[in-house]
Parts: sequence; C-alpha cells; structure tokens
Amino acid sequence: MESPFKADALKGKVALLTGGGSGIGFEISTQFGNHGASIAIMGRRKNVLDDAVSSLRSLGIPAVGFEGDVRKKEDAQRVVEATVKHFGKLDILVNGAAGNFLVSAEDLSPNGFKTVMDIDSVGTFTMCHEALPYLKKGGPGRTSSSGGFILNISATLHYTASWYQIHVSAAKAAVDATTRNLALEWGTDYDIRVNGIAPGPIGDTPGMSKLVPEEINNNVREDMPLYKLGTRWDIAMAAVYLASDAGKYVNGSILPVDGGLWLSKPRHLPKDAVKRFSRSVENRSRAKPDGVPTSKL
Ligand SMILES: NC(=O)c1ccc[n+]([C@@H]2O[C@H](COP(=O)([O-])OP(=O)(O)OC[C@H]3O[C@@H](n4cnc5c(N)ncnc54)[C@H](OP(=O)(O)O)[C@@H]3O)[C@@H](O)[C@H]2O)c1
Repeated sequence: MESPFKADALKGKVALLTGGGSGIGFEISTQFGNHGASIAIMGRRKNVLDDAVSSLRSLGIPAVGFEGDVRKKEDAQRVVEATVKHFGKLDILVNGAAGNFLVSAEDLSPNGFKTVMDIDSVGTFTMCHEALPYLKKGGPGRTSSSGGFILNISATLHYTASWYQIHVSAAKAAVDATTRNLALEWGTDYDIRVNGIAPGPIGDTPGMSKLVPEEINNNVREDMPLYKLGTRWDIAMAAVYLASDAGKYVNGSILPVDGGLWLSKPRHLPKDAVKRFSRSVENRSRAKPDGVPTSKL
C-alpha cells in the first residue's frame, strides 16, 4: 500500500533499529528508508541481517547491519558507535527487539521470565542509555538544532491480563514505563522525544505465528472490532508519523495500533436486536420494576 506521507518526511535522518531485520521491525526499516532515512539494523542472526540489508539496498536505501545482543552493554555500545561511525550521526533509535513464547505462569521458570525482561525491558533501556550522547541536542554529528527521537515497541497485553503471556506483559509494562519516564527526563533535559507504539495482533509476523500458531483453530478475525488483523504497514506508518515532524509535539505517548482490540468485549446481542428490544424492555421495567420494595401498607 502506498504511503500517505511525503517521500522526504525523514530525509537525511539516520535510524538504528533493534530487531529491524525481521517482521514489524523490518517493515519500519523499509518505510523509514522509503521516506529518506539511512538504516542500521541490529540483531543476533547474521543471515537475517544480511538478507534484510540486501533487500533494503535493492530499494536504494542506504543500509548496514550489525550483529549484537541488546542484553549485552558492550554490544549496545559497539553497535551505536558503529552506526555513528558509518553514517556520521544518529537521529532515531527504534527498540523492537523482543522475545516471546506461549507458556502458562505455572510452567514458566523464573529464568524464562528474566530472559524476556532482559531482552525487552533492560535491553530497551540499555540501548537508550548508550544512544543518549548521540541523540541529545548538540550531540556528536548532530546538525539539527533539536534532539533525536526514540521509539519503543511494546504491546497491549498488559493493559488488562493475557493468557500465557505473563513474562511479556510484565516486560512490556516496563517498556511503557521507560518510554514515559525518558520522555519526561530526556525531553526536558535534552530535547529528545520518546514515544511508543503498542501493536495489536499483526498478521504475517514471527510474533503472530508463535502466539497464534496454526495448531490453534482460531477465529481471531471474528473477535476483532474491525474484523481484521493489523498489518506490518499499519505499524510502520504510525512509526513514520511519530518520527517525522508531524509528531514534533508528541512526547511520552504510547500509541495503540490494534484496531481497538484492547477496548473490546464480545458482542452478545446483534445491533438490530437492540433496536427491537429496547423499547419493550424499558416499558416492562417501568411497569414492573425489579428490586424496588413494595409497601405492605
Ligand atoms: N507480531 C505481533 O503481532 C506483535 C504484537 C504486539 C507487539 N509486537 C512487538 O513488535 C516487535 C516485533 O515483533 P515481530 O512479531 O515482528 O517479531 P520478530 O520479527 O521476531 O522481532 C524480534 C526481533 O528482535 C530481534 N531480537 C530478539 N532478541 C534480541 C536480542 N537479544 N538482541 C538483539 N536483537 C534481538 C530478533 O532478531 P534475532 O533473533 O536475530 O536477534 C528479531 O529480529 C516486538 O517488540 C514485539 O513484541 C508484535
């Protein structure tokens, strides 16, 4: 689908994306590149990075991949520095790296819980911390008079509670808290905007194939308020909006892009039935109210 944004919306920007070589992260890499940004992607699997970089380059997007694990401070530091060395500066950091698997709380080991916290929550903070010197207003290589931009990808799982996702819910809650607190501190001190996107179920992603595997005969579309899954494009367009000047006064916001799913409840009554019944139900309840005491006098 064609982008509604101008092709130069991110012209001259340099973006580093953790998890930018696959799924949602790769689509954000592509759309940032299509809108004028140069792209560095970080991940652990070299073959994924290589494929992603050659796909981006085939579209004419300046791109480079760096192997690294967001759980390791030295990797975070090395990749941030390598990005600045390669492209001369850093304007945008996207934290998309995450781990996920379905498991009941009872069967989840504390170590499994910690692994996801380490990747999603601590990893996000570590990357932000290492990028801070380059993102802040006046940082090395920055030509713009403003600070840079951080985008943290979370989820909506923790808005309520989610089956078999206690580890990810806890980790993404911490990511959202990190987004808000950095927006407050670094927005004020360094003119860095920090925002989040909370995707709902997004089709054709590694996340969805793990969380809603083929083995589950599900009706996921039927339960969606818009009767459809989101697409990677939907998330990438929200990211372009937030990263571009269109979002220049948006700071500390976490934008759910989930079709309204987290608000939803199953519809027990068809809409036309509400019209049919409501007058007669109202009349009946006035004529013979329930729960109102009747006087014996
Ligand atoms: N798909 C959905 O429906 C959905 C819904 C809500 C939220 N989200 C969020 O959206 C983001 C992308 O999800 P996705 O489904 O598109 O999955 P994905 O492609 O599997 O995203 C995970 C990426 O993170 C990288 N990664 C994982 N651990 C890492 C580590 N320790 N260090 C560096 N990189 C690491 C992975 O590469 P390597 O394995 O090569 O390191 C991979 O590229 C995630 O933050 C996810 O929680 C997705």
